Amino acid sequence: MTRARIEILRKTLERHNYLYYVENQPEISDFEFDQLMHELQALEAAHPEWDDPNSPTRRVGSDLTSEFQTVEHRFPMLSLGNTYSLEELHYFIERIEREVGETEYVCELKFDGTAISLCYENGALLRAITRGDGRQGDDVTANIRTIRTIPLHLQGDTWPAYFEMRGEVLMPYASFDKINREREEQGESLFANPRNAAAGTLKQQASSVVARRGLDCILYQLAGDNLPFTTHTAALQAAAQWGFKTSDAARLCHNREEIDAFIAYWDEARRTLPFATDGVVIKVNDFARRRQLGFTSKAPKWAVAYKFKAEQALTRLESIDYQVGRTGAVTPVANLAPVQLAGTTVKRATLHNAEQIALLDIRVGDMVYVEKGGEIIPKITEVELAERPADSQPLQYITVCPECGTPLVRYEGEAKHYCPNQSGCRPQIIGRIIHFIRRKAMDIEGLGEETVELLYENGLVRDIADLYRLQAAQLAPLPRLGEKSAENIIRSIRLSKQVPFERLLFGLGIRFVGETTARYLADHFRTLDALMAASREELVEAEEVGEKIADAILEYLADEENRRIIEQLRAAGLQFEVAEREKASTALAGKSFVVSGKFTISRDELKQTIEKHGGRNLAAVSGNVDYLIAGEKMGPEKRKKAEKLGVAILSEEEFMAMIAEAGPMVASEAEAPVMEQKNEPPIQGSLF
Ligand code: IVH
Repeated sequence: MTRARIEILRKTLERHNYLYYVENQPEISDFEFDQLMHELQALEAAHPEWDDPNSPTRRVGSDLTSEFQTVEHRFPMLSLGNTYSLEELHYFIERIEREVGETEYVCELKFDGTAISLCYENGALLRAITRGDGRQGDDVTANIRTIRTIPLHLQGDTWPAYFEMRGEVLMPYASFDKINREREEQGESLFANPRNAAAGTLKQQASSVVARRGLDCILYQLAGDNLPFTTHTAALQAAAQWGFKTSDAARLCHNREEIDAFIAYWDEARRTLPFATDGVVIKVNDFARRRQLGFTSKAPKWAVAYKFKAEQALTRLESIDYQVGRTGAVTPVANLAPVQLAGTTVKRATLHNAEQIALLDIRVGDMVYVEKGGEIIPKITEVELAERPADSQPLQYITVCPECGTPLVRYEGEAKHYCPNQSGCRPQIIGRIIHFIRRKAMDIEGLGEETVELLYENGLVRDIADLYRLQAAQLAPLPRLGEKSAENIIRSIRLSKQVPFERLLFGLGIRFVGETTARYLADHFRTLDALMAASREELVEAEEVGEKIADAILEYLADEENRRIIEQLRAAGLQFEVAEREKASTALAGKSFVVSGKFTISRDELKQTIEKHGGRNLAAVSGNVDYLIAGEKMGPEKRKKAEKLGVAILSEEEFMAMIAEAGPMVASEAEAPVMEQKNEPPIQGSLF
């Protein structure tokens, strides 16, 4: 019975996953999908004997870290010859037609991500390997399973018993921008472009991180022995029928003119795509002709990549500004003589940090090439040395803060310089207050950046706690405010006292503690007092908290000024604890638990489940504890202590069985799936 139910749930969830992510035509609501997923999670937890690595539950990833095995490709992953010139492309076509006569070509977009080979055996995903050096790559299967557009099981039954499906793992711009915004907030280095972000993400050791990064995958090539197709178009069509996401942009072209038209179209239209492309790949369609043309040592002779030119402009670097962020990080920004680039006027470009400037030997007065990195933020890629003025001097990076004059410092392992004068440096003070009031933190309406600056200039606020002492009468006389706005501001400051603890924690602006980390910390420690009392070892027990974040928290809390602010916020009545959630049942009322080791769900999810059913979580095994839930890799000492004190020891399955009768497991904050846009609608050329 249960076994059959598990199978049905797995099949059903996979079908709805495909309808949602590949077809963009969901048939059930997110809520219904989540319900089915939670039912399957609970059944799988209770029946580990029916485990399947390709179960849809694996798509959320795991926080167990894994080392990647290097494995050999059964069929080597070759590279492609490439050209930036249409003339060379025309030679390529001429050469082919000389050898095999007139022929059909398939033109595809060249996706700018990282190549992957997906191995399928009997219709199930067996392994996923990165390109590596083409002969061997890294086994990244657990990470790949989290990409929702990749089928874990194929549809129909016409697939070969073993074959490999190849394509590109991409990070859509929307995910890329979101991740970089988060990284910026946390003071981490940014990904330079979506390609690096996709490749970096695939090499993440915890697949649960990959699951949240919003990767996508488009497949464009089959590899195998005796594949039952005679053309590339037929192979692609079959792949789409088996459930792979293929590109809608691929076109069959019959001659040079059609190929040129395809390139001309996409050179413009690619700007409207939700992901990065860097060219067009032109492939001979017919497999017999491909065999006739053969390979060089590195690449097929039947395909070539035409690469789009990155749009560049040459302009003068007039001066450099140094911006100081709320964490004290200094970012150099280039002021350029205005120049047209990819449809916009560019006046400024990021220079990242001192190393980057030294690497390119950038000097004020130089003529520099500006590119749109990943089509987003303009950056300087090169100096035109031929035009360097004779009297040019190497750039001296600043040594003191441009805002407050404090000598700058460098922290180990960080490329940026920092101004350490946290409590006396204007942009840091204002930046912290602006961070605190933002929508994702305390959401104080009516208080914008300008008003915060105004309050600061007038000596009304020096830190976030000062906000709670403000009175309408102090604000009303200020320029642009007046009584009504003043009252509105005071009301929203008062309302912000009810903002949940995790958002307050995020609002404090602790280095590296972004929105997600704040949520995990709140889930784990429940109260600010518990967090403040935690040791380094206890901090890293919380999900996603590593040593770097733990140290940043300790450093923040060690600062007397910060502790004073926290006490003032407490006195003002802000939320220093996680609010109680609605109970799913009272099955565990009066029982206390200690959770230890690794589980199929995260420890914090398990703890939440305990509380939702009326149970209590305790930190350490003692005589007051009723149950110890023992996961994988739990220390032997804990078990011994529990046995000595007569504490009952439960496995995860036993615990799940305990609450199974009390109703379905309650949803944790599962992230709602994000709808991806389909590729552009068909354009010129014959469809296939
Ligand atoms: S076909 C043997 N098609 O470009 C040829 N490659 O520079 C196999 N790429 O390693 C590749 N889009 O990562 C092919 N539509 C496309 C592609 C594509 C992007 C990448 C791929 C390959 C690299 C070669």
